[in-house]
Amino acid sequence: MTSNRNSIERDVRVMHLYEELLEIEQRLIPTGLHTFGRALELREKADLLRMVASFDRPEHGARSLPALVAEALGVDCYDELLQETSISETRELIDGVVFEVVERFCEGGAEAAADWLNLRAGVESEKSLPTFSLLAHITEQLDSNNEMASLMRALRGEYIEPGPGADIVQNPLILPTGRNTHAVNPYSVPSQMAFARAKHTADALLRRYFDEHGRYPRALALVLWGLDNIKTQGEGVAQALWLLGVRPVRDALNRVTEVEVIPLEELQRPRMDVIMTVSGIFRDLFTPTMTLLDKAVRRVAKLDEPLELNYVRRNIAEAMDAGDSDFDDAGTRVFSNAPGNYGTNVNFMVMDSQWENEETLGDLFVKRKCFAYTRDSKGQTVEGREAPHLMDDALSRVEATYQNLDSFEVGITDVDHYFEYLGGISRAVETRTKSRPAIYLCDSLSPQTRIRSLEETVRLETRAKTLNPKWYEGMLKHGFRGVAEIENHVANTFGWSATADAVDPWIYTEISKTFLLDPIMFNRLRELNPHSVRSLTERLLEAHDRGYWNPDEDLLEKIRDITVAINDQPEGQLKRGYR
Ligand code: BEZ
Ligand code: MG
Repeated sequence: MTSNRNSIERDVRVMHLYEELLEIEQRLIPTGLHTFGRALELREKADLLRMVASFDRPEHGARSLPALVAEALGVDCYDELLQETSISETRELIDGVVFEVVERFCEGGAEAAADWLNLRAGVESEKSLPTFSLLAHITEQLDSNNEMASLMRALRGEYIEPGPGADIVQNPLILPTGRNTHAVNPYSVPSQMAFARAKHTADALLRRYFDEHGRYPRALALVLWGLDNIKTQGEGVAQALWLLGVRPVRDALNRVTEVEVIPLEELQRPRMDVIMTVSGIFRDLFTPTMTLLDKAVRRVAKLDEPLELNYVRRNIAEAMDAGDSDFDDAGTRVFSNAPGNYGTNVNFMVMDSQWENEETLGDLFVKRKCFAYTRDSKGQTVEGREAPHLMDDALSRVEATYQNLDSFEVGITDVDHYFEYLGGISRAVETRTKSRPAIYLCDSLSPQTRIRSLEETVRLETRAKTLNPKWYEGMLKHGFRGVAEIENHVANTFGWSATADAVDPWIYTEISKTFLLDPIMFNRLRELNPHSVRSLTERLLEAHDRGYWNPDEDLLEKIRDITVAINDQPEGQLKRGYR
């Protein structure tokens, strides 16, 4: 009996491990920096085309390749298959065929790929050709690079053709690059597609929280960025609306200026309370959207519904009962920087190492982001009133924080902005509630809706990028700058320890082994850019000093020796990296 159970348990673990490996393997990562004026290399192109081909593109009359293959193989519940967290044999089969056919497309073009797909999986060529034609068009655009010519034209003050700003997977029409990118019409946000996708994502988010806690969170804090909402046509905005239980409504000019309440019977769950911290870029680009979000909260707050089914009402009632706020104040949920200001500065504080304890990081976030954007009961617009007490109070009920990931190219350890925002707000919540919130992210650009905890996302990013030879060798091709990118990743990973305690100690150990303790690698890095190696080493020691990582004495001693050796290096030698 016991051995049978053990073997079942073992199989479950092996399967789980397999799925994790597959997830890392399939993750699209940038393999090197973009070189201005140079086209993509073929290897990356196949990965990119595969991702582009995994979505239906009704605007181009093109179906998703996995969906076409599934259909031809007689798989009738493909959409459900896609949302499953575990990998099935059918999924593997479909993914394998798609992998192969994109390789064939890269070698032989659209017709050859369509013929092969017909033979291999029975997909009629007429059905797949529009997709391959789209891929051919994209390939052509990727191969022709106008960046340098456009730059020269711009410098001469000549006309530059406009093009949409978006992620290439989301909207291949952003190609060719080298155009004058324009953003969005804020009144078009959220699009219908964004709202449809947001329902899936927000439901998955709530399901995950419910599964882990046995109830819904008292309130959620969302981070909304401008670029993210441009690329996704407002998925972040739509998620907030769906959590509140309202849908966007368009006026006679097709502008989203109103919301409509979704009845509780249709919603099948309580309305969530959401605190939205929006970036300075969002505030500037999406002013009408901020009004819409504030309007949605106030509409929900006035509904005649039981408190246990309307958390906005419940929390406002609680704040008003506590005595010092009126309805206008207690219902304030949209916060940003002071007008004309940007960023949280939490990233700068972390990078400088000049902070005493983690609480300071959360307090800085609130200090920078506590400006209320709302409209009071008399209809007066309030644009950027400094209101730290209102933000403190709103955050004091938050049990989950969340942000979308909007791009395959930029993840949570590529830039310091994710930890300054999502990390910053999570730390602010923790110090105000005396309890760490559950922290989640979701790739809003992948066909599957997969909510991950922050810890899972840090692990995935570390495996897929920082510790992945494909990633760091790609970076090292850029010499000095590449080493700086590796160091940046380590610093940004550290940012997740500082703001959210979200980094497993093994991550620091593996970083040390990969980049410092391997003598060949260490010498390569030091030759290329000793300055970044020094920062990287010091960051690892800081991680230890601050208690985020407790390596054995031997490892620590080696890192200390390396720091001494680098610091002893004559200045002339240090400068070599700049050549
Ligand atoms: C934004 O798109 O709003 C944004 C981008 C980078 C850093 C912070 C915010
Ligand atoms: Mg840096």
